[in-house]
Amino acid sequence: MKICILYGSPRKKNTYAAVQVIKEQLNRLGKVDYNEYFLQTESHDFCCGCYTCIEGHEEKCPHAAHVQPVIQAMRDADGLIFATPVYVMDMTAQMKAFLDHTGYFYMVHRPYPEMFQKSALVISTAAGGGTKDANASIARSLKHWGVRRIFSCGISIFAPGWDAIPPTRKQSIEKKLRHTTDLFWRSLGTKKRPTLHTRALFFVMRMMQKKKAGTSADAAYWSRQGWLDGKKPF
Ligand SMILES: Cc1cc2nc3c(=O)[nH]c(=O)nc-3n(C[C@H](O)[C@H](O)[C@H](O)COP(=O)(O)O)c2cc1C
Repeated sequence: MKICILYGSPRKKNTYAAVQVIKEQLNRLGKVDYNEYFLQTESHDFCCGCYTCIEGHEEKCPHAAHVQPVIQAMRDADGLIFATPVYVMDMTAQMKAFLDHTGYFYMVHRPYPEMFQKSALVISTAAGGGTKDANASIARSLKHWGVRRIFSCGISIFAPGWDAIPPTRKQSIEKKLRHTTDLFWRSLGTKKRPTLHTRALFFVMRMMQKKKAGTSADAAYWSRQGWLDGKKPF
């Protein structure tokens, strides 16, 4: 299995440690090739709102050299992992800045057919609270990409750092991480359809495209995929 991991933390501490537990469990479950990106150094640009991608030319985005390799790695992967610390009750700016570059493949525009075959695991760590909101924010984007199954795991550290977590609490955190990893792993490579929500969103967007409510680039894309003539990406 190919797994693409995106790290939204500027440092390799709590969130990184939590992802290593996930990786250890994945390695126990089967053979996995990883493609890992640290957004802080590898794709940190803010979207400049030029609309080049929305208008059909994502390869001409001023940040394409940073952003497109990450997007290509995600497209090539069977599974996606998004890992972020909670900053002021949400994902980090690094993660959000990356997601802003993905609007052109929201279902309302030009979704990649292969996204409908993928599963994702969203994980966040916090000192105390906010993981639910951070995970939900990331998951919202993934739903709009068409990702088939999305699993979430929120870890509240309640300690000065990963290494300072008392052993019994650390054990229960690791158990939770391993359990979510098992669910994620089981969903990889299966032929299950996307959730009802994702399928419904696709059909609403198809109606919209048929009424030519989007850009001409979007309409041409949907037509090329055969999605206006009854074909589906799932
Ligand atoms: C700018 C900033 C904002 C934060 N906001 C929150 C927050 O809203 N809620 C919370 O529980 N922890 C918050 N934290 C703590 C981190 O989420 C927590 O320490 C996390 O595990 C750090 O992950 P890392 O070690 O991977 O960077 C914040 C930390 C920073 C630096």
